[in-house]
Amino acid sequence: LNYNVPRERRYILEVLFNGLTRLEYRGYDSAGICIDSSNLASISNAGICIDSSDLASVSKDLSKVPSNSVRPLVFRQEGNIKKLVKSVSEEVAATDLNLEELFPVHAGIAHTRWATHGEPAPRNSHPQSSGAGNEFLVVHNGVVTNYEVLKETLVRNGFTFDSETDTEVIPKLAKYVFDKANEAEGDQSVTFTEVVIEVMRHLEGAYALLFKSWHYPNELVACKRGSPLILGVKEPNEHTNSKPLYDPKFLKKTDEPKELFFSSDANAVVEHTKNVLVIEDGEVVHIKDGGVTILRFDHGKDKHSGNLTRADSVQRALSVLDMEVEQINKGNYEHYMQKEIHEQPESLRTTMRGRLIRGGSCKAKTVLLGGLKDHLKTIRRSRRIVFIGCGTSYNAALAARPILEELSGVPVTMEVASDLLDRQGPIYREDTAVFVSQSGETADTLHALQYAQENGALCVGITNTVGSAISRNTHCGVHINAGCEIGVASTKAYTSQIVVMAMLALAIGGDTISNQARREAIIDGLVDLPNKVREVLKLDEEMKDLAKLLIAEQSLLVFGRGYNYATALEGALKVKEVALMHSEGILAGEMKHGPLALVDENLSIVVIATHDTCFSKQQSVIQQLHARKGRLIVICSKGKASMVCPSGSCRAIEVPQVEDCLQPVVNIVPLQLLAYHLTVLRGYNVDQPRNLAKSVTTQ
Ligand code: G6P
Repeated sequence: LNYNVPRERRYILEVLFNGLTRLEYRGYDSAGICIDSSNLASISNAGICIDSSDLASVSKDLSKVPSNSVRPLVFRQEGNIKKLVKSVSEEVAATDLNLEELFPVHAGIAHTRWATHGEPAPRNSHPQSSGAGNEFLVVHNGVVTNYEVLKETLVRNGFTFDSETDTEVIPKLAKYVFDKANEAEGDQSVTFTEVVIEVMRHLEGAYALLFKSWHYPNELVACKRGSPLILGVKEPNEHTNSKPLYDPKFLKKTDEPKELFFSSDANAVVEHTKNVLVIEDGEVVHIKDGGVTILRFDHGKDKHSGNLTRADSVQRALSVLDMEVEQINKGNYEHYMQKEIHEQPESLRTTMRGRLIRGGSCKAKTVLLGGLKDHLKTIRRSRRIVFIGCGTSYNAALAARPILEELSGVPVTMEVASDLLDRQGPIYREDTAVFVSQSGETADTLHALQYAQENGALCVGITNTVGSAISRNTHCGVHINAGCEIGVASTKAYTSQIVVMAMLALAIGGDTISNQARREAIIDGLVDLPNKVREVLKLDEEMKDLAKLLIAEQSLLVFGRGYNYATALEGALKVKEVALMHSEGILAGEMKHGPLALVDENLSIVVIATHDTCFSKQQSVIQQLHARKGRLIVICSKGKASMVCPSGSCRAIEVPQVEDCLQPVVNIVPLQLLAYHLTVLRGYNVDQPRNLAKSVTTQ
């Protein structure tokens, strides 16, 4: 920001914009911000909502705002955060606001959106408002499922709606509750938390909400149900990487207040503090004059109560975030996806740290997964293991399925979370349900978890996010410890998930003499895996050259089988989600049952044919595709190019050979690199692909 204002005045804007930038990977089609302002006697637009495309229609209705009160200024903008920052600067300049006087109160809320209801547009961006005068303002992460019914009621009561969002009912409901309570009591005796709790009582669906209101200056209320929310608590003298709150010139040290940061995830908080409260479902957090009160609202219990609901106050302990600011910076890389691909040797090492025991005083090489140790017996005795996940996490589970079946002897089935819910598929008490999720917050996976719990299954979580809903609500689990992943297309989490599930297979599998050699080979393979991944990353330039050849293709098929069926699905997913090129992962065994019809001299096809028990079958697939003149790219084991591409009939990508069940970790890397380079060359946004979000917290 190029505002020519003292630093303490700018701080609130900077914190909000930086925070939004950190959260942008979760949604990036529009954004908005609301800050308190005062001393605005000279400012005609105080208390208005400025939509940047709509300045002419700015309301001048100030009659309801007491002239001495702190008033909210709202800016909303379609597009990304950079655009919002630009828009705020321009609008502020256009309205001739006196910034010296503008932001004395350091409270604000902001939001970056991924549209569920209503197209990306300023009117659909958050904060959403209760109407003229912005008495109540709300930012929301989640979906209100009963918004249509609520909207009808509010319209009957004289409210008019400006947006197509589900969220707009929330501030309007707050105003309705506030007005009704004041009518009844005759003065403003209803508290901000009472208003919010009453609103919660009527909401169905998932939400994390932040409320502001000029009726309650210097107060902020947050609440949640289903969607993630944390509160960072920075003590006055806490040393962090962030800039100081106030210039010492302006305030004495002793006057420095505690700083409080609400956020949907830790990324926006860690640069300020590592001390956080993970807010639980049903909790309402009230900030007033720097103090924090947490109340618990039991939605089920109070649903039918006719009065404003009183909630019980709760005590919570602070947890400490286990992450560093550097993890969420791009370092020397151009994009997060590129950084995350290249840091896989290190992320895999971190995933395995302390979990593999080789030789030494232990007789056998073994695996230790602390989060599972009390449940291994139950898992071994299960009737089946069901893997449940979405997107890349599902693919990772699919890659691990064969080794789990082999070592545990327990049948393993696969479920896409949404499909399990659509079918209400059978889950039994004797099942072990394993929930795989990078974020630990994906709504479909969370709902499937709830469903499996209701059916009595043992629920195991495999997530990358400590404190996430899935890690908190499963009976036991393993954190993959891959470090923060910001690129929307998952890369390092995928390989770490496979490694964790291979370790899970070793932990569950019996340690018999007959399988000892196999187990030891896998453990040795795991230990050496980071080096092999480092080696395969050297294909970067080669994959860039390949991307140049494929840049104008309409479509790319990827054939795999056995351990590498998942590699085909995941490779194709990467290409379609970031490079925006049609791509399908195909089970090679199904080639003759349909996909072969697509093949001609114009079609580019990747075949995964590294050396394992499926190799000879893949050789015959290659011959058949070759006979139909398909343009073949074959991923094969080092030194085996001549076996898959006789007389240079296709392009061979040679990768290091590892233990068969770990080969998917190596094989996906060239496809990640290919997807990355294709995206850059085609000129698309690598880290924020069109229409997608990193964490899909709505169903
Ligand atoms: C979204 C993301 C994918 C991710 C999937 C599952 O679709 O864009 O990258 O694989 O959600 O997310 P999870 O956090 O549950 O692994």
